[in-house]
Amino acid sequence: MSNTTRKKVLLMGKSGSGKTSMRSVIFSNYTARDTRRLGATIDVEQSAVRFLGGLVLNLWDCGGQSAFVDNYLSSQRDTIFSNVAVLIYVFDITSTDWEADLAYFEDILLALRTNSEDAGVWVLVNKMDLVDKEDPKRKKYGERKDDLLAVDQRVRKEVEEDGKGNVKGVLRCFPTSIWDESLYKAWSSIIHTLIPNINLITSHLTYLRNLNQAVEAVLFEAETFLVIAKSGSPLDCDTNDLDEVEVNKGAKGLDQQRFEKISEIVKGFRKICQRNHEQYQGFEAKFDGCTVVLEPLTRNTYILIVSSDPRIETGALLFNIHQAQNHMS
Ligand code: GTP
Repeated sequence: MSNTTRKKVLLMGKSGSGKTSMRSVIFSNYTARDTRRLGATIDVEQSAVRFLGGLVLNLWDCGGQSAFVDNYLSSQRDTIFSNVAVLIYVFDITSTDWEADLAYFEDILLALRTNSEDAGVWVLVNKMDLVDKEDPKRKKYGERKDDLLAVDQRVRKEVEEDGKGNVKGVLRCFPTSIWDESLYKAWSSIIHTLIPNINLITSHLTYLRNLNQAVEAVLFEAETFLVIAKSGSPLDCDTNDLDEVEVNKGAKGLDQQRFEKISEIVKGFRKICQRNHEQYQGFEAKFDGCTVVLEPLTRNTYILIVSSDPRIETGALLFNIHQAQNHMS
């Protein structure tokens, strides 16, 4: 990517819902435990995160105390809500005042839709670790999601009926916890939609997978270890839409959460390496007839190739990755 693309990302939600914690785990290598030390965010904290060379995320972490939120909705309305690419709105599933939380969200969504009609909205219902044991079927999450989708419909209608815009951005919900890989799933999905040439990246990965007769080739961002794209079908597609190679190689039976689990494991491992003053460079493993290779591909990315063909040597996979590195650099 030669040109820099800047995307404004708003991180909003009531105080204590976990916004700064998420940002710190994903972008600043905090562990979930480290976030207990974080204080409340005062007003808006802006940071820029460079992704894949040319994509820069301008993250606006908006403190959630009501005095600040009232300002965002009044005197700072235009500054905050215009030119937004994505709104990430974080709820605390344990909140005892859901109706009030929803009312705040509705005001914010209305301000967003009237100023940035194309913005995507990701609602993260956070702290799921605190309720999952009592509610393993996630009934409470399902009810919350229905309420959120109803708010989205109401706001859409209101904006369109008042002639204030033609809302195109969609709303998606994810259950999250900073204590497990669900956080990576949600954030990977967000980043995936912001990368401009994602289809081209997917087709290169598919080519590399086929060349190696592998099951899968997956691209991770080097700093955050968020998954960017994978070979074959789009990252967030339904298992019924997998491509022919994925179906033939048994990708349907693979763990649906494998990418975010890898993100979490590799980040944890890299931390241990740093603590021991070792540099993390990659990973190779062979088990049950499978070969797995994780190697740097470019300055900003790592590639993972998984092969289930015992005849294919690790050296051959590494050779092809090194050839691809030359091509990409
Ligand atoms: P403001 O800055 O005031 O808007 O709050 P915030 O939304 O940024 O909240 P913050 O990230 O500071 O988190 C508040 C507390 O919630 C911290 O003690 C975190 O450790 C905790 N927390 C955040 N996410 C989770 C989660 O998924 N599970 C649990 N159990 N605790 C969490």
